[in-house]
Amino acid sequence: MTGGAGFIGSCVIRTWLADSPSLQIVCVDKLTYAGNLASLAPAQATNRLVFRREDICNRAALDAILAEFRPGAIVHLAAESHVDRSIHGPDDFVQTNLVGTFALLEAARGYWQSLTGAERDAFRFHHVSTDEVFGTLGEGGRFTEDTAYAPNSPYSASKAGSDHMVRAWHHTYGLPVVTSNCSNNYGPYQFPEKLIPLMILNAIAGKQLPVYGDGGNVRDWLYVDDHARALKLVLERGKLGETYNIGGNAERKNIDVVKSLCRILDELHPQGAPHDRLITFVKDRPGHDRRYAIDSSKIERELGWRPAESFESGLRKTVQWYLDNAAWLEGVQSGDYRKWIALNYKERAA
Ligand code: NAD
Ligand code: DAU
Repeated sequence: MTGGAGFIGSCVIRTWLADSPSLQIVCVDKLTYAGNLASLAPAQATNRLVFRREDICNRAALDAILAEFRPGAIVHLAAESHVDRSIHGPDDFVQTNLVGTFALLEAARGYWQSLTGAERDAFRFHHVSTDEVFGTLGEGGRFTEDTAYAPNSPYSASKAGSDHMVRAWHHTYGLPVVTSNCSNNYGPYQFPEKLIPLMILNAIAGKQLPVYGDGGNVRDWLYVDDHARALKLVLERGKLGETYNIGGNAERKNIDVVKSLCRILDELHPQGAPHDRLITFVKDRPGHDRRYAIDSSKIERELGWRPAESFESGLRKTVQWYLDNAAWLEGVQSGDYRKWIALNYKERAA
């Protein structure tokens, strides 16, 4: 697995290892600012997780890891993932999301071609992608697997390019791939640059809650554990060469998400209530997509997946998690989580 020290990857590792007692996972992660070894601590206790700090752009390192561990599948989550960062500095997005995916595909192809018999037949490459590749919706409609690609941000363009490469490696070389395109995830261990954890942290600290534009942009929210379960099904039972949309059936305007968070915080963290007095409308994100909504009927019909968590229960769990996990948060906010790298890899913390 690549990107396993990030928000979704670490959830996948924690839940898959807990659910499958004989599963072993090799996590390849560069540990950028978004990678946090503390998020993997519960999984490391199983002794079935191997961690390798590597850049997916490093083809030789990928070849060596594949030769050493001979995995039955590759699940590719490593990416630069934050839209605002991609607007201010697209370089890393092109490097990791495009060049890195290319290096990984080539390493996977070489490895897969070296396999024989049942091992070769069973091998899968699962590319984890986003609904942002489809661009923006108006008032109506939802993204299906057949919606045309129309990425609008440097982030979504780099992910769209990676999706196209994965598709081409299947079509041209026969690499056994599946791709999933998911909506906005939220839940524990999310880096506080994304809307929900940023708002929780700012509200607790009594800081402004910056809502872009008029707050009317709509996202379709999915609790991260539900995404992790969906990914397992797609990997194990998805049809080769196909794509699967994954979404929470939970469309919400940003302003309503922030107001809901404020209401939950008023109850669970009454100091500073009412928190909605902190809401501040700020300059809009350039090129801000207005609305995303996912039609998940294919994965529901073919693989029997449905989100277990409602948006209301998931949001409450998430707020409670951030309130209960001051140490994780303090590490992220102070930058101390980077010291894990120095401790584990004898380097100076970046
Ligand atoms: P994240 O930013 O939290 O984590 C990304 C991880 O990738 C980090 O651990 C980072 O260290 C690692 N990484 C980055 N560049 C790397 C490189 N060059 N080599 C190796 N590792 C590298 O991201 P996330 O939110 O967990 O998203 C994971 C994947 O899911 C991404 O591919 C993203 O596009 C996709 N996705 C995310 C969402 C969402 O709402 N967060 C929704 C749909 C799809
Ligand atoms: O749709 C899936 C995508 O969701 C993933 O592919 C991305 O990796 C992930 O970052 C996420 O992208 P968004 O841009 O939708 O997420 P973000 O949390 O940055 O913003 C959610 C919405 O909230 C968006 O409309 C912008 C708005 N926003 C965000 C921030 C950080 C604000 O209004 N204020 C903020 O401070």
